[in-house]
Amino acid sequence: MENKIKNLIDIASLGADVIERIMERAEFFSKNPYAVSLEHKKLAFMFFENSTRTRFSFEIAAKNLKMDVFHFDSTVSSLSKGECFVDTLKNLEALGIDGVILRNKTSDLLEAGLKNSSMSFINAGSGSLAHPTQALLDYYVMKKYLGSVKGKKIVIVGDILHSRVTKSNIELLNKFGANVFAVAPRAFQDTTLDGITWCESLTDAICGADVVMCLRIQKERIEENIDFDDYVKNYQISNCEMLGGAYLMHPGPINIDVEIASSVLDNYNKNLILEQAKTGVFVRMAILEMMFGGEKC
Ligand code: CP
Repeated sequence: MENKIKNLIDIASLGADVIERIMERAEFFSKNPYAVSLEHKKLAFMFFENSTRTRFSFEIAAKNLKMDVFHFDSTVSSLSKGECFVDTLKNLEALGIDGVILRNKTSDLLEAGLKNSSMSFINAGSGSLAHPTQALLDYYVMKKYLGSVKGKKIVIVGDILHSRVTKSNIELLNKFGANVFAVAPRAFQDTTLDGITWCESLTDAICGADVVMCLRIQKERIEENIDFDDYVKNYQISNCEMLGGAYLMHPGPINIDVEIASSVLDNYNKNLILEQAKTGVFVRMAILEMMFGGEKC
């Protein structure tokens, strides 16, 4: 089995065996968070879009593994003096950085890094395109509660058009035989996506669901006016009963009382949203081990 990967850019380039190995190691790290040392390996965090969960969980993961973590702040870096991104990367590599955790509003910087640097790269979110480590942690949580996703009904609700999480989740869930359904207002639909079945209404979509995954309305990527009243009326999870016993997930951050009512967040006993955040640490430890430690077995 391949236990080493150089980069983690998208779900499509990960084999099912590699994904399952990440799940196994995440399970191990959930019980043994300090068991492995990658001392002296150096990680640069380059976040050109904001983050709480991804950034903190990668940092905790790296520190549990005794890695050295360096945060790149573009506003006080020489990018602000006109240095180009590729030269910045060449200098970080010369300084001894082993890997870069990169979030940006497009995939351009990742592509430039892969082409011009020998460091390893992890995609921590590229615009509306991909968020592979989120999909991996979502898969871990689903497996934990469902056993397997094969044949299960996973329903994605909301701003699918602007969601990088959805694209990575659809790829991953289809690899493992889940039945993925989607429901969204027309303005948030992306009919170019393969591997999902669109539903007419939230009620139709949720009927018989094993998991309901709500998405954040990504206001920062939307120029038109958003009709929040219409969204709340037709797409909000407004009470626990409407979930019909399905597990509730959301990658976060949540627009509380828009995608999900606060009463549901507070009272629903199958709410896995904070479990997703917690799991991010262990799944990201498994990824870092596979990239910067790990041997073939
Ligand atoms: N789910 C997610 O990526 O959250 P952050 O933007 O807070 O990292």
